[in-house]
Amino acid sequence: MSTRERWGTRIGLVLAMAGNAVGLGNFLRFPAQVAQNGGGVFLVPYFISFLLMGLPLLWVEWAIGRYGGQYGEHSTPGMFDHMGRYRWLKYVGVFGLFTNLTVAAYYCYLESWTLAYVWHSAIGTFSRVDAAEFFPRYLGVGADSVFALPLQALLFFPLTLALNTFILSRGLVRGIELAAKIGLPLLVVFAVVLAVRGLSLQPGDPGVVESPIAGLGFIWTPQLSGLLSPTTWMAAAGQIFFTLSVGMGSIHCYASYVRAKQDIALNAAAAGWMNEFVEVVLGGSIMIPIATAYLGLVAVQTATAGGSGFGLGFLTIPTLLNNWGWFAPLAGAMWFGLLFFAGITSSLAMGQPILAFLQDKFAMSRVRAALAFGTVTFSLGFICVWLYPGGAFDEFDFWSGTFSLVIFALAEAIVFAWIFGINRGWAEITRGADLVVPNVFRFIIKFVTPVFILVVFVGALIQPMGRAWGAAFRSLFAGEGWPFAPESVLGRILHLGDPTYAWFDALGQPTVALVQDGTRLLLLLVFLACAALVWMAWRRMEGEPS
Ligand code: PHE
Repeated sequence: MSTRERWGTRIGLVLAMAGNAVGLGNFLRFPAQVAQNGGGVFLVPYFISFLLMGLPLLWVEWAIGRYGGQYGEHSTPGMFDHMGRYRWLKYVGVFGLFTNLTVAAYYCYLESWTLAYVWHSAIGTFSRVDAAEFFPRYLGVGADSVFALPLQALLFFPLTLALNTFILSRGLVRGIELAAKIGLPLLVVFAVVLAVRGLSLQPGDPGVVESPIAGLGFIWTPQLSGLLSPTTWMAAAGQIFFTLSVGMGSIHCYASYVRAKQDIALNAAAAGWMNEFVEVVLGGSIMIPIATAYLGLVAVQTATAGGSGFGLGFLTIPTLLNNWGWFAPLAGAMWFGLLFFAGITSSLAMGQPILAFLQDKFAMSRVRAALAFGTVTFSLGFICVWLYPGGAFDEFDFWSGTFSLVIFALAEAIVFAWIFGINRGWAEITRGADLVVPNVFRFIIKFVTPVFILVVFVGALIQPMGRAWGAAFRSLFAGEGWPFAPESVLGRILHLGDPTYAWFDALGQPTVALVQDGTRLLLLLVFLACAALVWMAWRRMEGEPS
């Protein structure tokens, strides 16, 4: 039962797509990445990555999606199947199922923390309990164990999933589009209120040690020195992937509900630039300036080093907001409320491709497909909850939320420009366009974007020790081999950072290494299961007279 659903209005579509992109990445990950990578030094590679990779990929994904939609395909396996005559093309699309499903699992868990924190901010928990103590307790991290069964987290997580499932089961217009129309404006209002309040702090106010403007200056003063650092480039490109939701299969799905003649060029650019505005302007104006005001710039830089931004967002901010007196609970609820809205409009975008696949290929009803998504996401997410202390969550984040995106983006860029062909591709992008896409992007999409992604990919694979590329090359040429960093992809696979690598410790207790390897195996099995479903779907179809 292939659906004939469409978006209700153009503004609804753009808001849904912006809601897809605007997520926790904009408010938690971006500030942390900027601070960690030297502030303004980060911004130059970041914007170049947006122009040479992010924006072109947006157009490519919207084009693939709208093209697939014309054949009644709303998930990537079916879309890719129509892009050329190779039978294996549909398996490239397996990534678009796998990443959405596995990212949804840990992302919804994260989203459920924000919901719990809205509640706890509103009832004033953080005026009584230090947020830095609350957080590990909430997650069940503490005793020296790789397991956790945190009661509250196990309440808010299914609640969050139930909400997602419910909204998805209402369909495109009454579910996703409505959620974006409510969520996006609200989150912008909350963000503006917090940014204005935070930026008006002055030295001399209780607890304020430095002007919050120093924080803005730090992140927003572009510095060219970042151009020469491969590490900064990789961090910037990684952030562009995550924040724009490219390389996931999620944009393809949303775009497949656009009519064949309706513009995508302008819509894609509008949603992309909207995301950048929310990220750089709003995302940059809350956490960093507020933390700078109360802790000082130096402390902010140390606090974000190596972290993902969760630290600052969940451990530090709630406590700092206590300085705001009566406004504190409200400000806290707004901060986590905006994170929640940002999160849910993104997790819906991860769910829809799964629903669409089940509806298109297995003739499931929307409600049943939504329930199937909710159940599988809960099972996978439970692993993230239960084995959080052992690092399962981080494994999901790295392999699904970072690594897979790059592989899929590389594959789709090549398929689009070289198999589908850039002539047809360009015609797809520009058909019905309300914006003149500069011709140079034709060249960029064909050559620059794939090479750019390839370089990022190889860089991540072999990132050297201490991120010292110069020294690594000298070592290589001196015949001493390449010093892989433990955080490089190969370093992770080989557990280079873990010299005492073993699955059980001396007392016979399971180790972090066991959780890591187990999670990787699980992810691999999920990928294979998605591939098997695709195989079954095509057997079903080919058995049917068409
Ligand atoms: N772009 C979202 C964020 O910034 C994350 C996301 C990735 C959403 C992939 C949908 C698909 O948080």
